[in-house]
Amino acid sequence: MALRDELSSHYDLAPSPELAEEMRDIYARMERVVSPPDWAIHAPYVAAINRLKKQRNAVILAHNYMTPQIYHGIADFVGDSLQLAVKATEVEADVIVQCGVHFMAETSKILNPSKTVLIPDMEAGCSLAESVTAADIDKMRRQYPGAPVVTYVNTTAAVKAASDICCTSSNAAQIVAAMDSDTVIMTPDQYLAQNVAKQVPEKRVVWWEGSCIVHEQYTPEDLRGFRDENPGTRIIAHPECTPAVVAEADFSGSTSGIIDYVTREQPEQAMLVTECSMASNISDQLPGVEFLGPCNMCPYMKKITLEKVLWSLHSMTGAVEVEPTVADQARVAVERMIDLSRRLAV
Ligand code: 13P
Ligand code: SF4
Repeated sequence: MALRDELSSHYDLAPSPELAEEMRDIYARMERVVSPPDWAIHAPYVAAINRLKKQRNAVILAHNYMTPQIYHGIADFVGDSLQLAVKATEVEADVIVQCGVHFMAETSKILNPSKTVLIPDMEAGCSLAESVTAADIDKMRRQYPGAPVVTYVNTTAAVKAASDICCTSSNAAQIVAAMDSDTVIMTPDQYLAQNVAKQVPEKRVVWWEGSCIVHEQYTPEDLRGFRDENPGTRIIAHPECTPAVVAEADFSGSTSGIIDYVTREQPEQAMLVTECSMASNISDQLPGVEFLGPCNMCPYMKKITLEKVLWSLHSMTGAVEVEPTVADQARVAVERMIDLSRRLAV
């Protein structure tokens, strides 16, 4: 039986303009980007998930790249990778539903192992996490003896376990600068590493050759062409873009850094050089900002849908497990990052 049919035998999921109207306050957070007929389809799912969440004593942690229906409709907490990791340490509920990709769910499990951590689609991967293994980290260590390994959180638990410390896009430069070594190994994002190397010229940064399939698509020519056609538009790029793209932008930062920047600056027009849902998620709270530019979706993030979230909470399937010895080692690297970030007040 298809998921939808199976779910419909337990929940009333028929599109309902009446329910959509009753849930107006939730819809108000996304009405600029979700049409009323679409909301009538989504509202029964949002209502069912929010009810079931209470029954299961569950919280939903959602990344900034989730669709507006997830971000505004069902999430208890939204944020960038660092904020989600910190939040995972504080969860007291029995169940965490991770609306994001697999490495984020693994990080929540590592940081709060007594909780059940569900990922609504096990196939929600990441091109960066797939690009490097623990054996590759050992290879880098042999190539640069004594150099610490700073690993982006976009990696498997085994890779984190083989590393000295983790980083995210919001603290990478500060973490690398704080390393007690002239040479620092950064894995697996070559572009994040190259962007950090520019910010921390006193270090020799060497990197693994991974990349994000969403951010690597942007070119400096795209940005220049866009600026020529839309003068005055503020261009804001995620540091997973190439250094040439970041150099063309007015600002670069993590997904939450981008939200903070646009909220602070309130430009008339903005182009977010990152995953497409970001602009959708913040456009209602920033009515004075017109978001322009192409829409690049992360196929992994977009595997997470309301239907799959409802299914995972209903069936309690999709629990993420991390082998305890790997989790213990990986926890050291993630907690080092969180502690250092706090000390550096990133
Ligand atoms: P941040 O939210 O930490 O900036 O990361 C972006 C990303 O690509 C997550 O997959
Ligand atoms: Fe991975 Fe890029 Fe998707 Fe983020 S946007 S999950 S880095 S593939």
